[in-house]
Amino acid sequence: MLRIAHLSFSSPLILAPLAGYTDLPFRLLCRMHGAGYCVSEMISCHGLVYQQEKTLEMLKSVDHEKPVSFQLFGADPETMVDAAEILASYKPDMIDVNMGCPVKKVTKNGAGAALMTTPDIAEQILTKICAKVSLPVTVKIRAGKDSTHINCAEFAKMAQFSGVSAIAIHGRTWAQGFSGTIEKETISAVKKAVSIPVIGNGDVHSFRQAQKLMAETGCDGVMIGRAALGNPWVFTPKGRPSTLGEILSGAVTHLQLIEQHLPAERIIGYVKSQMCSYFKGLPGSSRMRKEIFSAENIVDLKHTMETFEEFSNTNE
Ligand SMILES: Cc1cc2nc3c(=O)[nH]c(=O)nc-3n(C[C@H](O)[C@H](O)[C@H](O)COP(=O)(O)O)c2cc1C
Repeated sequence: MLRIAHLSFSSPLILAPLAGYTDLPFRLLCRMHGAGYCVSEMISCHGLVYQQEKTLEMLKSVDHEKPVSFQLFGADPETMVDAAEILASYKPDMIDVNMGCPVKKVTKNGAGAALMTTPDIAEQILTKICAKVSLPVTVKIRAGKDSTHINCAEFAKMAQFSGVSAIAIHGRTWAQGFSGTIEKETISAVKKAVSIPVIGNGDVHSFRQAQKLMAETGCDGVMIGRAALGNPWVFTPKGRPSTLGEILSGAVTHLQLIEQHLPAERIIGYVKSQMCSYFKGLPGSSRMRKEIFSAENIVDLKHTMETFEEFSNTNE
């Protein structure tokens, strides 16, 4: 069983943070399908300190999604500590610090994966946050800057020494972004370097692949990101259902959760793209996509999806 500090989880499979996706409805859905816990989208330390409306909207949570981890990003140690205290007041179960994001908007300010090239600053951030906040703090890292600067094992030791309770490692370098393949050896190396739980991440598409990654690297848990989009069943041993009716019912549950927790009508474009992701690769998916995108509002969208149900009945 995966344990982090005093917390224990029903599954070692975790929903990875995905900016623009791991909002409250999607986290709830993934928890319903067995994710041990879910990580929020990355939250800006400046947005928190300056109480920006958009940032505060990202902190929406409900008790029944617990356990949940909120992820923080930034590069200035003092601002990060102030932001972590604000984040803790919203009562997540854990705070994760982003030291792996390769996106320019984040790294140009020294945050995300850039912190792996400035371990002194990273150490200050982690030490100060761990000293100030009583919640378990975790960190998400990469293999290193590029293939000639793989420093994840030393970096993980520093993180453990700074007081973090677990380390998630995406087995790619900053230079790789999201392309190429993960190096499983980097996950094994981190596992060997520390005594706290290690969560492996990258390119896991099924429950079985997650178990394989744990067996091969010794990691204690696995984070799944992209493979969960339109497929929250990835956290279950059975995986994605085989009938359109079941897939549709999962998509509709997601839609209902969005309606319950987000201004669905205001973000209809986002809702439509979420709904489309469920049908990717299925027979007739391009027709469904067209119909979904031609819906004018949520009522219309629901009606369109009911038509898919008829389509599924005639095709089964
Ligand atoms: C659209 C998108 C958004 C992401 N947002 C975040 C983020 O907010 N914080 C973070 O640490 N990683 C973020 N990541 C990286 C993922 O958490 C994960 O490490 C990466 O996608 C590899 O795992 P996967 O192959 O299971 O998707 C993002 C990745 C994608 C594709």
